[in-house]
Amino acid sequence: MTESTNIVWHDSEVTKLDRRKLNHHKSAALWFTGLSGSGKSTVSAALEKKLHGLGVHTYRLDGDNVRHGLNKNLGFSPEDRQENIRRIGEVANLMVDAGLVTLTAFISPYRVDRARARELLDEKEFIEVYVKCNVEECEERDPKGLYKKARAGEIKGFTGIDAPYEEPLNPEVLIETDQQTLEESVQVIVDYLKRGGYLS
Ligand code: PPS
Repeated sequence: MTESTNIVWHDSEVTKLDRRKLNHHKSAALWFTGLSGSGKSTVSAALEKKLHGLGVHTYRLDGDNVRHGLNKNLGFSPEDRQENIRRIGEVANLMVDAGLVTLTAFISPYRVDRARARELLDEKEFIEVYVKCNVEECEERDPKGLYKKARAGEIKGFTGIDAPYEEPLNPEVLIETDQQTLEESVQVIVDYLKRGGYLS
């Protein structure tokens, strides 16, 4: 990729703080990470609904959806996943700047890529939510039939089967969808946001 040259940053007169004041809540990125079928989409969608009901301005970015548009030119090689997560990190950063509680639901299997996304944001603006679920359970659920295809060799490099997933070492929030109900998982995150003063 060629880097841009001769470009100058232009500050806006309306700042992130101004936008937050108008919204009456902080903005942050809730970065959901976990295996395919772990529940990232389900939990983040339910959480967004709950937050919306509480009057919080939100936006949710989801792996399958973003790969239909912005990232439609990317596949699942390690390099493409890295670029996928780099772009999402940048978009999340813009959305946090816009004053939104931003929910991202991507496998984001590599620690280094998640760490880079974290670095784009200020402290406390990046909340890593590890959606933990053992791979056997994910394979059992197999909502899109992709594990079956991976086992049959029809998909190569499938996360958890023949491509790695690097677990978060110190996530801000841990939810365990093979042990908790959807409501419990959502509540754990809402409690975290309330405790951290994000919603006041
Ligand atoms: S990544 O690793 O963060 O770039 O992946 P992501 O953008 O979240 O996309 C994951 C969804 O793509 C489908 N899919 C695959 N997942 C993993 N490995 C391979 N090889 C693959 N091929 C297609 C799958 O539906 C994932 O959706 P989720 O919601 O995670 O089940």
